[in-house]
Amino acid sequence: MAREITIVGVVGLGTMGAGIAEVLARSGVRVIAVDVDAAGVERGRGHIEHSTSRAVAKGKLDGGARDALLGLISYGTALTDLADVDLVIEAIPESLDLKARLFAEVDRIVRPEVVLASNTSSLSVTQISVHTGRPGKVVGLHFFNPAPVLRLTEVVRTVVTEPDVVADVVEFARRLGKEPVVIGDRAGFIANALLFGYLNHAVAMYESRYATREDLDAAMRFGCGYPMGPLALLDLIGLDTAYEILETMYGQSRNRLHAPTPILKQMITAGLLGRKSGRGFYTYDGPDSPTVV
Ligand code: 3HC
Repeated sequence: MAREITIVGVVGLGTMGAGIAEVLARSGVRVIAVDVDAAGVERGRGHIEHSTSRAVAKGKLDGGARDALLGLISYGTALTDLADVDLVIEAIPESLDLKARLFAEVDRIVRPEVVLASNTSSLSVTQISVHTGRPGKVVGLHFFNPAPVLRLTEVVRTVVTEPDVVADVVEFARRLGKEPVVIGDRAGFIANALLFGYLNHAVAMYESRYATREDLDAAMRFGCGYPMGPLALLDLIGLDTAYEILETMYGQSRNRLHAPTPILKQMITAGLLGRKSGRGFYTYDGPDSPTVV
């Protein structure tokens, strides 16, 4: 019989974790949202409040439904708050060391049958899973940014993930209105493995001054119908995140398409991380309002 999932723990309330918490609450799921400290919790709460108030302003969500949605999310800073959840979704920074320690700790807190899912975009789910006493109940559940908008979720199974765990997570993803795809545990899974070679190539064209950022982005928007050009998309993803994904994929495949273009590292060192730092390939007034400078 399929697991009943009514309360979900989300750990890590950055852009992705907050977006995932919003997705869950929009589907009527109760959420225990945990971050490492009060500042992290407030940032996550602010993100969800901002995103849902924008939906109200656009007439996509009524005020009462927003209040109900926000009421489904409770916040905390202690992992022990997760004691009663039916599923955990981890969305902390992309560090194997951090994730391994978190999974080991959560493993001791939640019931033995509870599935532990990681939103990792490129780390090995297998390597994370062996730090728990339940590797068969560990999966990847990879959302795309912005999580409330994009429908794909990649469900990553390792060689030891139990088939009923995969089936339950797929069914749960559908309940959230997502389109799940199931994939093995290889860096980049499907979408990032295909996307990041293209993004990296665009950065190389920009770095060599082959084309301007505006023309690179216009070419893919107006020529290929992409919703955003590659450099604007990198600003949305975050240059630091993009760099880590490329490095991990390159380390695993040695495919030179994934060797990070040098200017990416230089921009990160200079603090140009994209929308979240106010400047990347473009300059931003706020997280939602690009200003071309
Ligand atoms: N949170 C919630 N909703 C958001 C949002 C956010 N951060 N950003 C946009 N939206 C909603 C808007 O409210 C709007 O909703 P509506 O249609 O109900 O009114 C809808 O999305 C469209 O937004 P806008 O009209 O403001 O702007 P656009 O039409 O330009 O869409 C976009 C913005 C959704 C970001 C679109 O440009 C897009 O899909 N871009 C591509 C994003 C993409 O490729 N993401 C994948 C990155 S890779 C990844 O995430 C993997 C990871 O491992 C790195």
